[in-house]
Amino acid sequence: MTKEQISALYTDLAPDAPNAKGFGNPLQYLTIQPTDNCIDLGCGGGFDCQEISKITPSVLGIDIQDKMIDFARLNNPGATYQVADLLDNKLEADSYDKVVSNCAFMHIENKASCLNEVYRLLKKGGWFCFADVTTKKSLPNRNLFTIESDEYYTLLQSLGFQQTFFLEEKHVKINGEYTYLLHSTFIGQK
Ligand SMILES: C[S@@+](CC[C@H](N)C(=O)[O-])C[C@H]1O[C@@H](n2cnc3c(N)ncnc32)[C@H](O)[C@@H]1O
Repeated sequence: MTKEQISALYTDLAPDAPNAKGFGNPLQYLTIQPTDNCIDLGCGGGFDCQEISKITPSVLGIDIQDKMIDFARLNNPGATYQVADLLDNKLEADSYDKVVSNCAFMHIENKASCLNEVYRLLKKGGWFCFADVTTKKSLPNRNLFTIESDEYYTLLQSLGFQQTFFLEEKHVKINGEYTYLLHSTFIGQK
């Protein structure tokens, strides 16, 4: 999706950053160290970045939407933020001990390109934990690109991640109601 399409979707579905929070909680599975260099891909309003900044001062959040980064800088100022497309591949390779992402890849059709970028960014031995919306069937009218959790797992393994685990799969709740959508969480190491 283009930057304009994503912004339009968030105007519709979630007018501000707190409402745009990802469904998962990948941070709970990472043991972040005070010396770690961390990045959050699709950081939205910077909530996870703020949590990470309580442990390490070295955390960068990137998001394609200016309004998310404005919100993050104002409300979650512990981290550094950049407006950037995670597919631009402009960040330095082999630089991060921990990469996190919470429900951002659902906006990107080519999941291999997301995961390849993560692999490029990670230092050898670094860990990646992410959650994303997954589904058992195609999603009409939502403008989301979702795949099944098994497909994600296979992709992670085929792209070279080690120690890969499919950690959990839960139904997405919207306005207190369970939907047929799922969110799944995975971890892997470079
Ligand atoms: C559901 S929100 C989750 C935000 C944040 N991870 C959280 O949990 O609060 C998904 C975010 O991914 C961002 N995003 C989508 N595609 C992106 C891309 N190609 N590059 C960077 N950010 C992207 C969106 O702008 C949006 O803020």
